[in-house]
Amino acid sequence: MKTNFLFIIFFALFGLQSYAQIQWQQVESGVWKGIIGMPETYNLLKVSGTSPLKEGFARLPEVEIPQLASEVKASVVDRKTYLSFPLQRNEQLYGLGLNFKTINLRGKIFNLHMDHYAGNDNGRTHAPIPFYVSSLGYGILINSARYMTVYAGTGSRKDSPNAPPAKDRNTDRTWTASPYSDEVSVLIPAEGVEIYLFAGPTPMDVIRRYNLLCGGGTLPPRWGLGITQRVHTLYTAEQVEQEVDDFDKHGFPLDFIGLEPGWQSKAYPCTFEWDKGRFPNAADFVQKMLSRGIRLNLWTNPYVSPQSQLYKEMYPLSGSHTVWCGIVPDLADEKARELLISKWEKEHITIGVGGYKLDEVDGFDRWLWPDVATFPSGIPSEMMRQTYGLWMQRMTTDAYRKQNKRTYGLVRASNAGASSFPYVLYNDYYNHRDFVTALINSGFCGILWTPEVRNAKTGEEWLRRFQTVVFSPMAMIDAWSSRLKPWSFPEVAEQVKEYAMLRMRMMPYWYTEFARYHFDGIPPFRSMNLEQGFDVQKSLTTTLEKQNLEENPYLEKITQEIKDQYMAGEYLLVAPLFAGEKQRQVVLPKGNWYDFYTGEYVGNGEIITVTPGLERIPVYVKDGGIIPMLKQATLRTPKSGEKFDLEIRHYGKAENAYRLYDDDGETFDYEQGEYSWRDIKVTRDKKGNLQGTISKVPKGKPDNIANVTWKFMTK
Ligand code: GAL
Repeated sequence: MKTNFLFIIFFALFGLQSYAQIQWQQVESGVWKGIIGMPETYNLLKVSGTSPLKEGFARLPEVEIPQLASEVKASVVDRKTYLSFPLQRNEQLYGLGLNFKTINLRGKIFNLHMDHYAGNDNGRTHAPIPFYVSSLGYGILINSARYMTVYAGTGSRKDSPNAPPAKDRNTDRTWTASPYSDEVSVLIPAEGVEIYLFAGPTPMDVIRRYNLLCGGGTLPPRWGLGITQRVHTLYTAEQVEQEVDDFDKHGFPLDFIGLEPGWQSKAYPCTFEWDKGRFPNAADFVQKMLSRGIRLNLWTNPYVSPQSQLYKEMYPLSGSHTVWCGIVPDLADEKARELLISKWEKEHITIGVGGYKLDEVDGFDRWLWPDVATFPSGIPSEMMRQTYGLWMQRMTTDAYRKQNKRTYGLVRASNAGASSFPYVLYNDYYNHRDFVTALINSGFCGILWTPEVRNAKTGEEWLRRFQTVVFSPMAMIDAWSSRLKPWSFPEVAEQVKEYAMLRMRMMPYWYTEFARYHFDGIPPFRSMNLEQGFDVQKSLTTTLEKQNLEENPYLEKITQEIKDQYMAGEYLLVAPLFAGEKQRQVVLPKGNWYDFYTGEYVGNGEIITVTPGLERIPVYVKDGGIIPMLKQATLRTPKSGEKFDLEIRHYGKAENAYRLYDDDGETFDYEQGEYSWRDIKVTRDKKGNLQGTISKVPKGKPDNIANVTWKFMTK
C-alpha cells in the first residue's frame, strides 16, 4: 500500500511527461505486480473473483524477476496510461486472446475489444485477453477492463538505439513500409493500471504461472469430456427423447444434449422459463434424461424478455439500453446477479440441468448495448462489455458449486482470469482451418475452444471436422439449425462412429490432462511452440524470399509459424486434414515420434509428408508416450464409482513414467483431497523387454479401475 502511495506521488511530481520505471512487488512465486498511477478498482481479475492455486506454484522452479522488469516503462498522461515493454531481435510473442489467423503476434496491432470474431485478428474477438507470452520466457498481463490498444512491435521510437535507418523508397528496394520495432506499447484509457509480470524460465512455465494465478485450469466433470449433440432449436421433449433413442440404436456414444433457444417460452430476449407446449413437464423430463445417463445443457442469453416473470424486478437493476428488446441485467450489481441466478437455480439447476451455453455476451456491435449505455452500478458500458462473459461464467460456476456438482458448458465471451471456469468458447465463424488455429491460441491464455461441427457440404468435410473436434476440449455437434446427426452422411458414418468411440476410450487420458491443467496450469490443447525440441526454423512456406529479413528479422518467424498442428495432452501431436486435402506436411519436434494407430516410427525433428486416407486424422506420439485408455468404449462416460477396465498403451522405445489422475468425476470433493494419482511406470527388464507397473490407489481414495492390461504399441 505504502509503495503504491509513494509511486503515485512520484508520478504526480515527476512522471507526467516522461516514462517512469515500475516498482514490482512479488505476489506469487515467479509473479510480480506493478502499479501504475491510480488503477481502477473494477478490473478483470476482480470480476473473475478467483484466487491463486498456491500449491501449484510449488511445482515450478524458483526464479528471479526477469531482467526486463527494470526496462518496462509507464506514464499517465492525458488521463491515459502508456506502457512500453522492450523487445529483442529474435523474440516472438503469443497470446492476446482468441485469435484465428495467426499464432505470432509480433508486428501487429490489436484493439482489445469484446466482439464476435469477424475474420480479422485485430483484437475484436470473443476473448480479447490482455495477456501475452514471450518466446524469451516471460509474460505480461494488463489487468484492465478497458478497451485497449496493443502495438505488438510496430512503433519505432526516434531515440531507440535499435532504430532502423531511413531509406529511399524511390531507389532502394529494401525499403519497407513497416520498419523494425523494438517495443510493445500499450495505450489504456485510464489514469492507471495494474500489470503482472510472469517469469518462466520457459514460455510454458509462464503460462502455467498465469493459469495458477487465475485459480488453476478448470477440471470438468468427466461426462463433460464425452460426446455432446445440440438439437434443433424447436425440438420438443419427445423429440429429444427420440434423439437419445436414436443415438442408442446407432450404438453412438452420448453424454449430454444441448437444447437451443426453443426450450424457453420466448427467446430472444429470454424468459428463462420452459415452454409449456414443447416441454410440458420440465422437471420430469430432466429426471428421465438423467435416469438414462444424459445431462442437459441449456442455451440462453442473459437479456430478459418483457414476458419473463423476472422482468419487473430486474428492470431497475438493468442498463439503459436493451438487446433484442430485452433488458440487460447490471451484473456489476450483486442484487442483479442474485436475482438472475436464483431464477436459473429455481427453473433449471435444482431440477437437474447440467449446464449452460451462455450465448450473445460478446457482440456484434449493433446487436449489443451501445457504448453510450449506462448501468445503475455506474460501471461504464465498455467495462461491462469486456467483463459480461466473465460474470456469467462466475455466477453459474458458483451456483453449481453450491450444489457440489461440477458443470461444463459453452460461453461466447471470456477474458483474463477465466482459467478455472468450466466453459468452452465457440462461435458462428465456422472456418475449419481457422478453428484449429483458435484451438492453438486458446492454450496461451487460459481459455478453451471447441472447433464445433455444425454442417458440411460433403461427407468428407463432415468427417474431417469430426476428427478434429474429437481432439479438442468439447466433442460437440451443434445441429441447432442443420438438424444433422453424426450418421447423416452414410458414406462416412462408420468412420465418424469410430472416432466417437476413440474419444470415449481416451477418457482416462483426457481426464488426467485436465487434472494437469487444474493442478499445474498446463493447457491440455496447445501450440507446438510450447513443445521442447520444436524448431520453427524448418519452414513450410516459400514466401520467405519476398521478405526483407535484414530489416525485419522477426518476419522470418511470422512466415514460418505452424498453425495447423497442435499438442493434445502430454504426448499427442495432432495434425488435422481439411476437406479437399489428401496429403499434408507435419513438423515433428526433435525426438522420436510414432504413429498413434500403429505404433510405427515416423520421424525425428523433421518435416514428414503424410497421406493418411480419409479415415484417419494424423496423430503422433512422443517416444515413451503413455496413453491410458478404457479397454472398451462406453456409450456414456463411466459414472462416479463405476468400475472400468484400463488399457495402458506405450509408444516407442523409451522408458517412462506417467501419473494417472482419478476422482469421483462429478463433485468438488477433489478440492478437499478426494483424488488419487497413480504412478505408471514403463521400464525394461533384464532381457530388454518393456514392462509396465501401476501403483495402488492410496487407501480410501477414489478407485474406478478394475483390471489393467498393457499394450506396447511399437514392435
Ligand atoms: C447463435 C449461436 C449458435 C446457436 C444460435 C441459436 O448465437 O452462436 O450456436 O446457439 O445462436 O439461435
